[in-house]
Amino acid sequence: MLGIGVEKKNAERAKAILRENGALLSGYGAKSDEKRVYFPVSKRIELPFPHSYSQKIFPKKQHGARSLREQGLSSFDIVGDIAVLEDRGKGDVKKAASILLKTNPRIKTVLLKTGGRTGEFRIQQVKWLAGKKRTKTVHKESGCVFEVDLARAYFSPRLSTERLRVLAKVKDGETVLVPFAGVGPYAIIIAKNRKCRVVAIEKNKDAVASMRKNVAANRVAVEVVQGDANAILPRYKADRIIMPLPHGAFDFLDAALKAAKDGCVVHYYSIGERGNPFEKPLKEIRDACLRNRKKCRIAGKRVLLSYSAGLERAAVDFTVRRL
Ligand SMILES: C[S@@+](CC[C@H](N)C(=O)[O-])C[C@H]1O[C@@H](n2cnc3c(N)ncnc32)[C@H](O)[C@@H]1O
Repeated sequence: MLGIGVEKKNAERAKAILRENGALLSGYGAKSDEKRVYFPVSKRIELPFPHSYSQKIFPKKQHGARSLREQGLSSFDIVGDIAVLEDRGKGDVKKAASILLKTNPRIKTVLLKTGGRTGEFRIQQVKWLAGKKRTKTVHKESGCVFEVDLARAYFSPRLSTERLRVLAKVKDGETVLVPFAGVGPYAIIIAKNRKCRVVAIEKNKDAVASMRKNVAANRVAVEVVQGDANAILPRYKADRIIMPLPHGAFDFLDAALKAAKDGCVVHYYSIGERGNPFEKPLKEIRDACLRNRKKCRIAGKRVLLSYSAGLERAAVDFTVRRL
């Protein structure tokens, strides 16, 4: 079977790119040796870091996923060594948790979602189901490590590909502002890979405490500012502003436009109607630019993730110019 080998530090990035390009073979697990990780692939694609292709035998995946589906629980996220299950009301969650612990040696704790992400800090409602009784873990993504307490701060592993997409646009020398920085994934991944000034703004004290540890653990220079993005954004002048607050980023557009240098690129996230998710963010962006006497040019838009039956998450990139 065709396999691709990459250095361990690039494994998460490689996996995300392979998956995005439909090259990662499902049904088989990855292999590793001291220095490299090997993924089973269906085709050859070019990666932006050293890699090599060779024929390998890959282990068949265990049937944890099938057993979980039998429990009506096919959906779960893994953050560090914690699995977060969604109960679709069709199965036995305790049984599913024990299957997960048995079939995935890297999972040490299973939590159950008990509601949506609530409140200003967008914290996932969870309760403990099985394994070690804790909500704090360390997650690896794109060669960086992130401590996160899932009961106290926001983190979603599902946004790893989007973070890499944004990283690919960032150029050395930029000043990058990340309001709504959470425990720091966008800010730290950019600071790790580019020679930029990166400022991360976050209101939730618990997220900020983890972000400060994450900045130190990843040995990057991110300026972490705790407080309300509306008050803090206008203190800076930015070449790029990343606004990952899909529920409420529109309330911060005026402050972001005050911080935008001529030519600044804004990555704007929003939740819109399924089938027509861009109408709302495009109107918000155009109205805000008019109010602030700026011109905007839409540079790109894409649907990111499904949010609920009728809603999806959209990303719009736009450039800001003086009128
Ligand atoms: C959807 S989360 C995104 C977190 C992070 N960027 C990530 O991708 O993991 C939004 C974050 O914005 C923070 N937040 C909400 N209101 C804020 C405000 N007024 N000023 C600064 N941060 C805020 C929340 O606490 C939360 O951590």
